[in-house]
Amino acid sequence: MKITVIGMGYVGLVTACGLASFGHQVLGVEKNHSKLKKLMQFESPIYEQGLDELLNKAAAEGDIQFTTELNGADGSDLIFITVGTPSTNSGHVDLSQVYTVINQLVHIITKPTILVMKSTVPPGTGEKIIRRFLNKCKTEVNYISNPEFLREGKALLDWFYPDRIVIGGKDNDSIQQVKNIYKKINAPKLVMGITSAEMVKYASNAFLATKISFINEIANICDLLGADIDEVAPAVGMDKRIGSDFLRAGLGYGGSCFPKDTKGLNFISTLHGYNFNLLKAVIEVNFQQRLKAVHKLHTMLGGLAGKKIAVMGLTFKPGTDDVRESPALDILSLLASEGAVVKACDPHGKDNAFKYFSRKIIFCEDAYECAKGVQAVLLNTEWPQFIHLNWSIIKQTMQTPYFVYDGRNALDKKRLSKLGFKYCGVGRPCN
Ligand code: UGA
Repeated sequence: MKITVIGMGYVGLVTACGLASFGHQVLGVEKNHSKLKKLMQFESPIYEQGLDELLNKAAAEGDIQFTTELNGADGSDLIFITVGTPSTNSGHVDLSQVYTVINQLVHIITKPTILVMKSTVPPGTGEKIIRRFLNKCKTEVNYISNPEFLREGKALLDWFYPDRIVIGGKDNDSIQQVKNIYKKINAPKLVMGITSAEMVKYASNAFLATKISFINEIANICDLLGADIDEVAPAVGMDKRIGSDFLRAGLGYGGSCFPKDTKGLNFISTLHGYNFNLLKAVIEVNFQQRLKAVHKLHTMLGGLAGKKIAVMGLTFKPGTDDVRESPALDILSLLASEGAVVKACDPHGKDNAFKYFSRKIIFCEDAYECAKGVQAVLLNTEWPQFIHLNWSIIKQTMQTPYFVYDGRNALDKKRLSKLGFKYCGVGRPCN
């Protein structure tokens, strides 16, 4: 089939390459010229494991092309929308990119097509788009909501082996066509109404965020009562009704999805007169969790002014270069504003983080340089590179009290204690 994918961000590029790998003819549209330049050379503008290889394979087989022109979408069997839907400060989801693209498409499209929405849009948006835009098209344009469930860093795995594919629509033929493009994927294909499909996306992310905030609260209480989250969480997760995933306590969730989608769902609930108390608490707990790290450093170092601290990891999780809403951003800025001398490092996120801080933070090439001369290390992201460091070398270059705050409960507490570090984790008792 001939498919256009509009917006070559994380979701769009993975979608474009994934569809091309099934033998569809894909046109990727990207308006950002520096991104497009890379894409034209079949180079991925983002760091995502395996994506460069998939892109190159699709290019070699002639199944993928890129352009900046939306006009190329006319004549496509399907048009996927994968543009950004960022949130504003209030939590309101900014749909301007979606509306701009659809408004342009309405004038461009002359042949019947199916518009497939993969951008995350609040429940009710699809129906609005049909009323406001698609009913005005010169030709038949059917609308399908097809939310994505891709994790950054594992996006290709999630693309090829999803738990389910959600297809929300009204027109049976369009639903069947969307099912067909995924026929090589062995996963349940759930057909439902458009608003329900939109809600599945928000409910899934909100539930996962709730699990994280819940286990972080339990970890905080473990700290107070002398229990150990490493013993508690696995035992709780073994109950099949609960499940062991997303029960890792730490500094809380970040990224471009959970923070935005929890705030977005809260906003839309409020707008409809519903007070989503549970979700509000999830968001608040998540914010407090990053403050706890700063408070702990303050207590252990006897204040922060003039103290030298290394923050290892800037991305919101390992396996990505994405620092959006990463706990590290708030932590770095708080530490610096309290007068600490802050050093930071990350295998892939340094350039993105640098844009936020310029000269306030000392960005280092690697963890060894980062730890040199500091009194404390904070682990923000559980990159394997940090877990497998030679901590005895790190210790030799650090200063007393050799404090390590393991914000992801990823380090070997026993080993660090043996080496003479003062260690605390999240819900893991300090030594
Ligand atoms: C998330 C969802 O997992 C995807 O299903 C969804 O498609 C995506 O959002 C999206 O809406 O596009 P992602 O943001 O890439 O994916 O990252 P996750 O792996 O879900 O992790 C999110 C955050 O939660 C990270 O900061 C991670 O460190 C944190 N986390 C995760 C925990 O603190 N504890 C856990 O047990 C699990």
